[in-house]
Amino acid sequence: MAKQRAQWSGHLGFILAAAGSAIGLGNLWKFPYITFENNGGAFVLVYLAAITVVGVPIMVAEVLLGRKSQRNAVGAFRVLAQGKPGGRAWLGVGFLGVMTGFIILSYYCVIAGWTLRYILMAVSGELGDLAYHPEALESFFGGFLGNPLEQILYHCVFMGATVGVVFFGVGKGIERAAKILMPVLFAILVVLVVYSISTPGFRQAMAFLFRPNFHELTTGSVLEALGHSFFTLSLGMGAMLTYGSYMRKRDSIPRAAVTICALDTLIAIMACVIMFSIIFSFDFEVTKSSSILFTTLPVVFFKLPGGHVISALFYLLVSFAALSSTISLLEVVSSYAIDEFGWARRRATLTMGAAILAFGVLSAISLGGHAALSNINLIGRPSTAGVFGTLDYLASNWFLPVGGLLIALFTGWILTRDECRQELEEGHGPMGWAYPAWRFLIKFAAPAAVGAIIVSVILGAEYQ
Ligand code: TRP
Repeated sequence: MAKQRAQWSGHLGFILAAAGSAIGLGNLWKFPYITFENNGGAFVLVYLAAITVVGVPIMVAEVLLGRKSQRNAVGAFRVLAQGKPGGRAWLGVGFLGVMTGFIILSYYCVIAGWTLRYILMAVSGELGDLAYHPEALESFFGGFLGNPLEQILYHCVFMGATVGVVFFGVGKGIERAAKILMPVLFAILVVLVVYSISTPGFRQAMAFLFRPNFHELTTGSVLEALGHSFFTLSLGMGAMLTYGSYMRKRDSIPRAAVTICALDTLIAIMACVIMFSIIFSFDFEVTKSSSILFTTLPVVFFKLPGGHVISALFYLLVSFAALSSTISLLEVVSSYAIDEFGWARRRATLTMGAAILAFGVLSAISLGGHAALSNINLIGRPSTAGVFGTLDYLASNWFLPVGGLLIALFTGWILTRDECRQELEEGHGPMGWAYPAWRFLIKFAAPAAVGAIIVSVILGAEYQ
């Protein structure tokens, strides 16, 4: 029999590792820029609704599936669907998850690599020089994206770091990293929020974020908000399921799930407050919204005393936040190979890491370095151009919501009321009204919301 499954050291260990997975480039890079593209307000509201109605219940469901089955994303469905309607067909949900993890990690590492370049530039003083002339910074950034060798180099370094952590396993690698990095990241964001409150653009930023204008909402942007709520919470592909499989039976799943969702949302909103205050204060013209984190923020850092230190520290923390997310993506793929093919952890992380690295090169050179790969546009929106844009669009807007929908249906309709209740109350105690509330959300509300959005996008196709 295989040796006992590894476990987090405790309640806090799980929460920090899972929050580390959730909090990443999705919060600091992607959410601010898609909020900007979708004109704030109404988009933020839809996103918050998606987190509450869909995100929280599915987070609970995923962790439940993992802890109950003690398996990886595919194995969990093999164990839990046995003898039930659908049977082995449910394994498809696990495969979809592993494939989505593979895809997301391949391009996520490329963006994460940019932060490494920025740390180096902050330390060397180069960033400071560029940041005094915003146009110079923008043109530097454009050149950087278009330089295939550099893109590949940083992508490789970041992938190497990810493999390095996952190689050492759950407790020693993943948990230890998250325990140190997450609190520091939070502290520096608090400092920046306090600073942004003192800037003249703060009020406008708050209005932009929290005053909804529903005329601007399209079905496409609703799908994007929904897809992003899956992406930012690491849901819909078995990452939280895999992390849940290492959770102790005596810890509370509902409490952990709510805490993780709350922390993730808080950090995403803080990132927006910081960046929009700055954009509105200095009257920035945002030409390429996906580079806000890399072309807008440095300009402000160097207006502050100690810009070098702040910017170096900031990009260091962004890279750590990204690392605690990439390790969860690789863990999904590796734990699948470990459990299902019987591979040793080392072999699994090295082999899968190498395959993802190779696939990611396509994204790395599709940002301007390679004309054909940059111009592919199967979807037809400006933001979906290139291999990178296409993969991000497909993974976040389609694979994750579909995966999440199937996870909700499985938990709500295939597992029985008592099976779920027993797992959720283990380590938590009687849930009272919260149990029927969750059961309602996972059975009806979450699938209906996700299903309705998917169907309306397919029928309307107006997102083009
Ligand atoms: N949630 C992370 C972020 O916001 C990215 C991420 C990590 C992820 N693991 C995931 C996304 C699993 C989807 C599924 O940056």
